[in-house]
Amino acid sequence: MHAQVRHRRLIREHGHGIVHTAYHTARGIWETLIYRGWGVPCALARDMRLPAWFGHQDWAGDPRDPVHQAATYPEVITLTGLLVSPHWRPFAMSASAADHDRFRAEFQRRLPPDYRDLANASLQLRAAVGGASVTRWYRPAVEVVHQRGCPASGEMTAAGLRRRMKDQFIYTSDDVLRMLDALLAGIGTAWWDQFFADQSRPCPFFTDRPDENLAAWFGEGQLTAGRVLELGCGHGRNAAYLAGLGCDVLAVDFSAEAIERARKRARPVSGSADFRCCSIFDADFAEESYDLVYDSGCFHHVAPHRRKDYVDLVRKALKPGGSYGLVCFRPQGGSGYTDLQVYQRASLGGGLGYSADRLRALWDKPPFSLRGLRQMNKASGQEPYFGEDYLWVRLATKEGAA
Ligand SMILES: C[S@@+](CC[C@H](N)C(=O)[O-])C[C@H]1O[C@@H](n2cnc3c(N)ncnc32)[C@H](O)[C@@H]1O
Repeated sequence: MHAQVRHRRLIREHGHGIVHTAYHTARGIWETLIYRGWGVPCALARDMRLPAWFGHQDWAGDPRDPVHQAATYPEVITLTGLLVSPHWRPFAMSASAADHDRFRAEFQRRLPPDYRDLANASLQLRAAVGGASVTRWYRPAVEVVHQRGCPASGEMTAAGLRRRMKDQFIYTSDDVLRMLDALLAGIGTAWWDQFFADQSRPCPFFTDRPDENLAAWFGEGQLTAGRVLELGCGHGRNAAYLAGLGCDVLAVDFSAEAIERARKRARPVSGSADFRCCSIFDADFAEESYDLVYDSGCFHHVAPHRRKDYVDLVRKALKPGGSYGLVCFRPQGGSGYTDLQVYQRASLGGGLGYSADRLRALWDKPPFSLRGLRQMNKASGQEPYFGEDYLWVRLATKEGAA
């Protein structure tokens, strides 16, 4: 809990962008130290990684959950504190080894006594905070733009909520849904535009590689080329791959920045890729006309009160016998928020994790039947595919003639 309070305080004092990036930088340095085993004393053996979204919005993961424990480790806390500091940050970002040594000495000084060996023993820390990596990770110019009325911490104050909801009058159930949309409006197109604008941020899906499961499904003959609707296509890596396989793809995303990048992605294709910039809920498409609806990483950003609309959208878009492929957060990858917490905190905390049971409850009932649900295979970096093991990979079929 202390880590969360501290995280919120840092955000209040320095803003989301800096805290988010400082955590990412600390995470990168920390992973380098831990995973490469560089000078890490045995007593400090660590086995968990900070989740990739850490420092994202208003982190409030349960520190008893081992996935979040890393956020409470003194070395991560200390590194983050140094990296948000306007005084110490330049030392880490500098190209000079002497500056890195000063940064390292300060890191060592601030660590609790039991942990000093970490900074002491690891001469490689100098390399880990080396200019190239830190300047690549750290981009202070990119600040997340928040809607007026949405406090930086993401906690909804009564005043913020009143401003956001000004004259809303609730009568129908649609009014309630719109009210909840307004409550969560901070993480919309502007947020994603900022996100895609900074391509130097350490984001696993900022890659050209398509999802490993797509290659597997096509390779195994579970899918064949046809008409595809992609939901939340981002910068188009999967749409481009599918078009290359001969599919005719309509790819939708509400981030103009992402769509612009997707359109620029020139690839030899035997099919076609048409990119539309709009919310998936506003997309205009012919009903029952797609062989495949594909979503990699969008569904877990859909608010709980819009889940049913999402399922209806997929059902409407698919031909009878069509397939629905999904890549989404496992509980380990998501924010850990319950649905109730999403509305209490006015945030999805960076995306919701789903248990296998919940995915089955949504997608293994008429008109859908589940064809496969598995953990995504983590890519080693050698193969030309994307894969992260904190994600699910799931394929379902809509009933009816193929
Ligand atoms: C985690 S990113 C994944 C991007 C891409 N599918 C990939 O894997 O590279 C989620 C994407 O969903 C988009 N998104 C989220 N909610 C959306 C909505 N309601 N309508 C359209 N796009 C949405 C975001 O703009 C973002 O590009």
